[in-house]
Amino acid sequence: MRIVLLGAPGSGKGTQAKLLVEKYKIPQISTGDLLRAAVSAGTELGRRAKAAMDAGQLVSDDIVLGMIQDRLSQPDAKNGFILDGFPRSNPQAQALDSMLARLGQPLQLALLVDVDPSELMKRLTGRRTCEKCGQMYNVYFSPPKVSGVCDKCGGKLMQRSDDNEETIGKRLKVYEEQTAPLISYYRMQNKLRRVAGVGSMQDIAREISHVIEQHIHPLSALKPAITAATPSGAKPRLVAQNKAAAAPQAGTGSAGGARVTLAAHAGESAKKAAPKKKVAAKKKATAKKAAPKKAAAKAVTKKKAAVKKKMVGKKKAAPKAATKKKVAAKKKTVATKKKVAVKKKTVATKKKVAVKKKVATKKAVRKSARGRR
Ligand code: AP5
Ligand code: MG
Repeated sequence: MRIVLLGAPGSGKGTQAKLLVEKYKIPQISTGDLLRAAVSAGTELGRRAKAAMDAGQLVSDDIVLGMIQDRLSQPDAKNGFILDGFPRSNPQAQALDSMLARLGQPLQLALLVDVDPSELMKRLTGRRTCEKCGQMYNVYFSPPKVSGVCDKCGGKLMQRSDDNEETIGKRLKVYEEQTAPLISYYRMQNKLRRVAGVGSMQDIAREISHVIEQHIHPLSALKPAITAATPSGAKPRLVAQNKAAAAPQAGTGSAGGARVTLAAHAGESAKKAAPKKKVAAKKKATAKKAAPKKAAAKAVTKKKAAVKKKMVGKKKAAPKAATKKKVAAKKKTVATKKKVAVKKKTVATKKKVAVKKKVATKKAVRKSARGRR
């Protein structure tokens, strides 16, 4: 499964991506997470990206595209991926299409998580992330039990440096100008699906899974798509906010968890998939080994069947030939008999004619003798 999650800052891309990772066992690839990891690691790439991030602007394509290329070529992305926060502009979308075309793995779905802009400011200013385990909270919608402390691991909760009103305003503007045009880009490719990103996180996740299964699963492709209910041009469906239901679920890591979170997910998926893969590989190997034997056995059976058929044919044909011969012989005998009979008849007739002629001659001789007398 190869999908892109599209949506404004704070729409819940990261939250939903983590739920999808758990369900479909494929990695989340978030450029925001990768960049933040580089910044906190103090790498050259991180230093170059930091200024743009703090200003709410897009980091340059040469940094982001290189990073994505590296990430997509890692083994855990072979079975699919969930792109979160990438692509963010037309050139990035085109570059992604080319990259995936080279890999022979085209994108299958672009899922827009649609949230009214009025919701976003509160979501972003209220976001808190555990610096240890990456668990995400929101002081308005899903607060921790103890303020500033992670429920899961007791770690300290941090606020992202770009989650202040001024930078959020810039990020939203950049989204409208550079990222929102991707809605048309993917609609033109018939890959766009829209899901209302308001309501409980679990309900949204269920709706997203439904769209994925309808759009990507070949057997369910005939069913009407979710876009029929929320057409791409229409206003998104608004669902009442539910604080309790919006509480974060266990395992929904954080955007700040960056590489650690990604690596953990990738490792987890790989571990879970390993025994299944082994069994599948064994089955394949056994099938491969058995294949020539099977083919040979099939050939022998076929030959035997052919010989049997021939024999049965001969057996059946033998009496037929004998009968034919007998009939022919009988016919010959009858014909010969007929010929002999005809010959006999002819001879008899000839004899009769000769006798008659003789008698007639005698009678004539006698008559002429009587006349002379
Ligand atoms: P990035 O990290 O991608 O940030 P973003 O796009 O601004 O999105 P966010 O991560 O802020 O929001 P989200 O949609 O993930 O929402 P979340 O699930 O966290 O990018 C950061 C920066 O990096 C960019 O500004 C740019 O500089 C740079 N960058 C990244 N990618 C780039 C690229 N491709 N090219 C160039 N530069 C790039 O949720 C937000 C909050 O809402 C949380 O508190 C959460 O708990 C809460 N929440 C989620 N769902 C719900 C719900 N249903 N109800 C109530 N609350 C909810
Ligand atoms: Mg995010």
